[in-house]
Amino acid sequence: MATDHTETLARLANLKASAPQNIAVQAFDQQWFETLPATDQDRILACLASGLANPDSEMGCYAGHADDYDRFKTFFSDVLSHHHKTPSDAVHRSDWAGPSAPMDVTALGLPPLSVRIRVGRNLADLPLPSAMGAKDRQALEDRMQPVFTALAADPQFGGGYHSLTPGHKAETSRDTYHSLIDRHLMFRPLDTDPYLTAAGIAGNWPVGRGAYVSHDQTVIIWVGEEDHLRIMVMDRTTRLDQIFTRLRGLLDRIEAQPVLEFATSARFGNITSCPTNLGTAMRASVHLALPNLTRGGSDKTAKQIARAHGLSVRGMGGEHTAIGNDGTVDLSPSARFCITETEILIRLWTGIQALKEADQAVID
Ligand code: ADP
Ligand code: ARG
Repeated sequence: MATDHTETLARLANLKASAPQNIAVQAFDQQWFETLPATDQDRILACLASGLANPDSEMGCYAGHADDYDRFKTFFSDVLSHHHKTPSDAVHRSDWAGPSAPMDVTALGLPPLSVRIRVGRNLADLPLPSAMGAKDRQALEDRMQPVFTALAADPQFGGGYHSLTPGHKAETSRDTYHSLIDRHLMFRPLDTDPYLTAAGIAGNWPVGRGAYVSHDQTVIIWVGEEDHLRIMVMDRTTRLDQIFTRLRGLLDRIEAQPVLEFATSARFGNITSCPTNLGTAMRASVHLALPNLTRGGSDKTAKQIARAHGLSVRGMGGEHTAIGNDGTVDLSPSARFCITETEILIRLWTGIQALKEADQAVID
């Protein structure tokens, strides 16, 4: 029997008036919804679960299956064009060529910075995290073990896996888990995040979750966070371009493993749970001290200036956390979709320069 959606649709209709910033709620068209077969109606409302439970959401939806973006193109094209300010028929392109010259922040008068570049990836043949059951989550972790064994044997990427799954042979202790979080190597408990919880992404916590960390702690692969995989390189360095090149090398090594095929779309690029990450799924960030712009402890001015340069300011523990007491912020280009990987790196480089100048201008 088809599910009765009367209550959910009434809630959606109310939120259209009270949550104007909630992109998913605003993009939802009930007339279009009525034309869908019953199973698709269930599926699209599952995508909106987080935004319905959390009216303050900015995005308000997560895909549950890799083909949701194409299957529900009417809805997602609208969502994507609102968030990314792209035309509704935009086609994403990738380019990892990198910059034509070294990007050394010494040239900007800066010391070595903590630089991190991550990409999200999802396996093509498993549901996305919001639609996974405990068995899928365990299957994901199991599928990654041969990949980690291969990386562990590679002198460039050697390290070990820390599992959060109770009883796993590589299960990590509570203390080690928290120490990994403090060192920015591991993600926080997903079930403390109301958006991820309502979406189902935090489901079965902590089954199937973990992180591979290289011995030198610069290569990190998260398993079972918002996307199946978050693959990253992080280091204190002056050379942004070297982190980028190292990440590409890591991806090549991972993609060479026969057990993995990542979900992509000819139109949307790399598929991710959250439409904000679709396309490159890349966030390239630096921890940058902006003591003058953040004087008094507020990130408001820094955020305003950053936005004008296409950049986002986050806190020292990542999204939804506070900036450092010394005025250090996490600065990254906001765009992920219809921008290339190389362009993201260039935007970070020019952004660091612009924010540093703006910070200096406060005291000049
Ligand atoms: P994501 O980047 O995967 O979207 P978050 O913003 O939540 O997720 O950040 C995840 C972790 O990565 C947090 O511990 C955050 O402090 C850390 N992090 C992000 N950028 C940097 C950086 N440039 N240097 C050190 N740690 C970083
Ligand atoms: N779901 C939240 C919202 O709609 C967060 C979206 C962006 N952040 C993310 N980690 N995907 O506001």
